[in-house]
Amino acid sequence: MCGIVGVIGRQDATQVLLKGLEKLEYRGYDSAGLYVNDQQGHDHLVRRVGRIAALEAAITPAVTGTMGIGHTRWATNGKPTEANAHPQRSSDDRFYLVHNGVITNAQALAAQYLPAVTLASDTDTEVLVQLVAAFVQSGTATVAAFKQALSLCEGSYACCLVDRLDPSHLYVGKNKSPLLIGQGDGFHVVASDALAMLDLTDQFIELKDGEVVTLTATTCRIETLAGEQRLREPITVTITDGAADKGPYPYYMLKEINEQPAVMRRLVTAYAPDAAAPVVDPALLKLLAAADRLYIVAAGTSYHAGLVGKPLFERLANVPTEVHLASEFGYHQPLLSAHPVFIFLSQSGETADSRQVLVAIQKQGFKSLTITNVATSTLAREADFALGLHAGPEIAVASTKAYTAQIAVEALLATALGQAKRVPAAASFDVAHQLSLAAAGQQAVLDATDRIHALATAMFEDTRDAFFIGRGVDHAVSLEAALKLKEISYVQAEGFAAGELKHGTIALITPGTPVTAFISDPVTAAHTRSNAQEVEARGGHVLRVATQSLAQPGDDLVVADLDAALTPLVTIVVGQLLAYFTSFDRGYDVDRPRNLAKSVTVE
Ligand code: F6R
Repeated sequence: MCGIVGVIGRQDATQVLLKGLEKLEYRGYDSAGLYVNDQQGHDHLVRRVGRIAALEAAITPAVTGTMGIGHTRWATNGKPTEANAHPQRSSDDRFYLVHNGVITNAQALAAQYLPAVTLASDTDTEVLVQLVAAFVQSGTATVAAFKQALSLCEGSYACCLVDRLDPSHLYVGKNKSPLLIGQGDGFHVVASDALAMLDLTDQFIELKDGEVVTLTATTCRIETLAGEQRLREPITVTITDGAADKGPYPYYMLKEINEQPAVMRRLVTAYAPDAAAPVVDPALLKLLAAADRLYIVAAGTSYHAGLVGKPLFERLANVPTEVHLASEFGYHQPLLSAHPVFIFLSQSGETADSRQVLVAIQKQGFKSLTITNVATSTLAREADFALGLHAGPEIAVASTKAYTAQIAVEALLATALGQAKRVPAAASFDVAHQLSLAAAGQQAVLDATDRIHALATAMFEDTRDAFFIGRGVDHAVSLEAALKLKEISYVQAEGFAAGELKHGTIALITPGTPVTAFISDPVTAAHTRSNAQEVEARGGHVLRVATQSLAQPGDDLVVADLDAALTPLVTIVVGQLLAYFTSFDRGYDVDRPRNLAKSVTVE
């Protein structure tokens, strides 16, 4: 989604901003821009539709500065045009602003406070910068005008403002959208994601909602919108910049798919170092043990990981578990049990849909745990407990290693909880061994990459539609495999509970329609095979993926056995590779599919 960078106190501000924006490219965007000022009376605004490369090409040697702001925009209010790209400026050309988030009352604010201003863009961001200018014109100082404007805004924002009449300062504001201040020797940087500035500093100050920061090259004043000063030490962000490199792989997605066995082993080391029982904060286990029901709340791929987690918590920890889409739960809250505990699954820890549920349930006094890949994220900070995914930075928009890491952490947590509650099923469950089997099984699938590439070509080369079927956890995997295929290859793909096909969807099967059947559940394997035959009887082209103990002659791919609840850790790797090669063969930008953003910070 949109990305923000800012810098003050560096001779090479243009390069700092450009490099920072490149690091944020993975989040998804459709235009980019920057503003730099040399603090000696010269400044430049450059904005372009499309890739950072287009912005870079438009930057002449004259575009230099010692401070500035930059932005990648993922269009929400208004189309991706140069006029709508950020930085946005005020009509008097005094203020420049970059902004992430959505100001939901922008139209009302424009009508009330800016009746005489002709807006040059369709953006809510312009309304904000025009408001600052209007308040300054009526005699208010810049920082006070900035606070006044922000306190009128409803919705979400992370923003960075420049006053051209005083380029020795940068002004920063945050509410609901993430933003960090980085500290260096004689300079400050601003970033919506620490990754953008990691090659300049690892010292970052986290901002809280409703805070405003005034930065110079060497000073940083944090205050609330009400003017109360806040003192905060920086934290050290430990991810290395190198962890975010592609290495020998053509795309991050392929690298991240290949990292999964290592992530499984890392999780065993992190959570079950002596391979006996997983080690989890006793206070968290106490909270979960007191729950009469768990509510897993998530979006997209993380929701699919939640679907796999439900039977794990029910079987190993003997606690009823519901899985909810965050975007639905927030506005149609179901009837809750008497003692619910909420588990938020989120790779980024920034998903706005999930965060609004967290805020809502906290208001009702309920406790929560966030399972996330980003320890410093909003959901990790704001929940009562947080557990890490230890997957390393996930850069490709399509989530892969975070999905399997989420399932593994759910298994570790369910086992720890079940053991704490003395649930017999957990006592005999060797989760560390199962995750080791998963790592080996994933590696075996990765070793069959060429075969899977050939199958992807045979199945999906020219197709517009595809179906994935399975029962139980294989159904959950079907949903995720279909999401992977549709998001990066634009094939109309659907995941179905295999038994549901005959209730309607089978009408869509025509000669050659590709249907992938996952068969890893001993209870329903025979039924899923029958459903696959029904598809074949109508001319459908079936690819069967079965676990070793359930395999039959003619199955296309046979994967390793492991506990039936954890087979998604292995079978999904097939789905991920099928999607990857379909997108790759069609010549698409696998890591940056159209219209999508990595971190979805708007509802
Ligand atoms: C799909 C994908 C998305 C995310 C979803 C939630 O590959 O990545 O569906 O899973 O946007 O994001 P997080 O997990 O960051 O909350």
